[in-house]
Amino acid sequence: MDLADIGVTGLATMGRNLARNLARHGYAVAVHNRTHSRTQQLVKEFGGEGTFVPSEDLAGFVASLKRPRRAIIMVKAGAGTDAVIDQLAALMEPGDMIVDGGNAHYADTRRREAALRERGLHFVGTGISGGEEGALLGPSIMPGGSAESWEALGPILQDISAKVDGVPCCVHVGPDGAGHFVKMVHNGIEYSDMQLIAESYDLLRQALGVTPSELAGVFREWNKGDLDSYLIEITAEVLEQVDAETGRPFVDIVVDQAEQKGTGRWTVQSALDLGVPVTGIAEATFARALSGHPEQRAAAASLAGPDLSGVDGRELVEDVRQALYASKIVAYAQGFDQMAAASREYGWDLDLGAMATIWRGGCIIRAKFLDRIRAAYDADPHLPTLLADPTFAGALAAAQESWRRVVTTAVRIGVPTPGFSSALAYYDGLRRDRLPASLVQGLRDYFGAHTYRRVDKEGAFHVDWSGDRAERPA
Ligand code: 6PG
Repeated sequence: MDLADIGVTGLATMGRNLARNLARHGYAVAVHNRTHSRTQQLVKEFGGEGTFVPSEDLAGFVASLKRPRRAIIMVKAGAGTDAVIDQLAALMEPGDMIVDGGNAHYADTRRREAALRERGLHFVGTGISGGEEGALLGPSIMPGGSAESWEALGPILQDISAKVDGVPCCVHVGPDGAGHFVKMVHNGIEYSDMQLIAESYDLLRQALGVTPSELAGVFREWNKGDLDSYLIEITAEVLEQVDAETGRPFVDIVVDQAEQKGTGRWTVQSALDLGVPVTGIAEATFARALSGHPEQRAAAASLAGPDLSGVDGRELVEDVRQALYASKIVAYAQGFDQMAAASREYGWDLDLGAMATIWRGGCIIRAKFLDRIRAAYDADPHLPTLLADPTFAGALAAAQESWRRVVTTAVRIGVPTPGFSSALAYYDGLRRDRLPASLVQGLRDYFGAHTYRRVDKEGAFHVDWSGDRAERPA
């Protein structure tokens, strides 16, 4: 029997499509699924696309792989992942590679990588973005793990990934959990992008009284400029959709409670630990949470709100476009800050420009905009914040009047825009010469003797607030 180049275990939609993508690129693919009928179905339906080597059990699957073995796990992230890893690892030999292509938490990936490394196995936590279609036609792929495993896996993963201008949307992100961390931040940014789009839709619809299908045209138009991206493109399609049963706009028949599998929440949790203000992602995550409390919403439905009238519609569409672009710049700047902070914390040496490069195609947040981020890091790999890049600084300067008008209008007519508002507050906070954090420090020193530093000399100080109010070195 000819041995397979690589294997996929877990053949739900993502796993099946990834296996097909590999086979279509000429790799012999070992395939396995806990329920064997799914494996049989894959071979029956798509066997003509390439070489599949099916196995009924994991022992057969491992035995069907060339050495060193390369096995990709595509199972739902969670406790089940540990069980599959344990079973696979027991059948493998030093030098073999286990790739986890699910949305695992990076801390789990770090733990698993360390445990398998002790046994001489490579564990490669790999972010894969692009949904079902991406898995089949070319996703954005973010592998972590050892440099040695990258040598054996990199060419295959780059081969099956999306390409933009001939450049694969896949690089070795960094060691251990770096790949899953970067995928997590990708998802956090995805939350933020979607929240900003939703706010744009909501504000325009409420303020101007236009229909979703009219707004589809607005988004389609926006997609031709700075905002050109997959999410703007599909927003137009979703807004245009009409429910066949009722004839109503599709968005009006969908329950307005946004769900999540958790990667956005993880991004915010990690950002809190790293001390990085990812306010855009946090507001997006909390907006989903707010939407998911129907009992509170019903109880609050009769609370007083402002009069909706008096909006000047002429400028609003362009203002919202500018606010969306500016807020998006902030959200990405924050996400990239978080990756930089994690890189320092875990010693990953992440190349931020390369992260922008591999998100240009294949993934959910793919956008023209990422070319500009890449250019910013090419020009200065140590950029302290993307907001300081001359191109983005210029775009923010051009957008800020519109952005302020949008937030003001939203506040005045009572349409919640936490994404726009918090992004603007972040922008204003970061550009301030002096922040009221000095007062916070003073208060901390007053009630807790927490000390403070001075602007004019080194050291920590404390005022004897309850005594003579004289300052002493702490
Ligand atoms: C991707 C997506 C994918 C998934 C999200 C959805 O990059 O292909 O991000 O990973 O669609 O996990 O996340 P929520 O269910 O949390 O919205």
